[in-house]
Amino acid sequence: MKAIILSGGKGTRLRPLTYTGAKQLVPVANKPILWYGIEAIVAAGITEIGIIISPETGAEIKEKTGDGSRFGAKITYILQESPDGLAHAVKIAQPFLGDSPFLMYLGDNLIENQLSNYVEEFKNKDLDSLIFLCQVPNPTAFGVAQVDDKGRVLQLVEKPKNPPSNLALVGIYLFQPVVHHAINSIKPSPRGELEITDAIQYLINDKKAVSACQLDGWWLDTGKKDDLLEANRIILDACTDCQIFGALDDNSQAIGRVNIGKNSEIVNCTIRGPVIIGENCHLENSFIGPYSSIADGVRLVEADLEHSVVLQDAEVVGIEQRIVDSVIGQRAHLGIAPKRPKALRFMIGDDSKIDL
Ligand code: TTP
Repeated sequence: MKAIILSGGKGTRLRPLTYTGAKQLVPVANKPILWYGIEAIVAAGITEIGIIISPETGAEIKEKTGDGSRFGAKITYILQESPDGLAHAVKIAQPFLGDSPFLMYLGDNLIENQLSNYVEEFKNKDLDSLIFLCQVPNPTAFGVAQVDDKGRVLQLVEKPKNPPSNLALVGIYLFQPVVHHAINSIKPSPRGELEITDAIQYLINDKKAVSACQLDGWWLDTGKKDDLLEANRIILDACTDCQIFGALDDNSQAIGRVNIGKNSEIVNCTIRGPVIIGENCHLENSFIGPYSSIADGVRLVEADLEHSVVLQDAEVVGIEQRIVDSVIGQRAHLGIAPKRPKALRFMIGDDSKIDL
């Protein structure tokens, strides 16, 4: 069995972060989202992994993620020249996949459940495809499935106006190679993409064995800011331990589960966990509240923040108000001039969002 992880795409919903980097490398609890997927796949016993990359962000993904040896996997990178759809990504991966059954994983998705039981079920039941569903409050925003009482999928509809159920299609799929025939037989959708839902519907219409499993744990698609913050909250809650390698001075306190990386210095700060702070950070006269992830090289001076993600080498200096529910990009600077200014001076990237 092989796996492919889709890490190309446009990432429009996470702009401006995705102008300069891959959305799959945005960290959740200081680890790239993509790496959670790789680890889950390896934990399910699949070690031959193809990663679909785009010309814009592929080099960065390759450089950070490497050949897979750090995960106990063998990674092959597959370039998709343009983001022509999820099924198109499978199409260009056909030479890598050959005749192997495979797991397909969207590189910005995270699930709580382990994959191994599902992989076993797929093998044991001799299925052509196994898809995953999760109940959502707003099914009109997703691909939605209609399922009979035996778990067989009757119909899939992409972003329906009148959803047949509240069961959204999760970004993880298991396929036999018969799906390649389905993909070669479908046409691009009105939005110009080869849709994986159309390929699965083709299998259903062709009377192939397509089953669905309903996830009982959480599922997050981190392609949007609020989902990214929610993923950060859940992972920090589940995984943060208490490890302090950096130096806290006598006027600082770390309360609850706080993880501080090497060479970070904390001066006159209160940190209330769960919080993760990377390496080589400088935090001074600041409060860091629960569910915050601070990446390597960040500088926070006279800052007060919680439930936020601060990326590498960013700087927040002298902001009186509490910063909440925020994502601050790499090398961004957020500050107030030493004298309270009459005028505000900005250098704000396209698609930035600032609420003063
Ligand atoms: P999406 O989030 O559906 O698409 P996107 O990345 O273009 O994002 P947005 O809607 O914000 O513009 O893609 C899900 C995953 O699949 C994501 O990791 C990107 C990847 N992908 C590809 O690798 N190739 C593709 O052609 C598409 C559409 C997505």
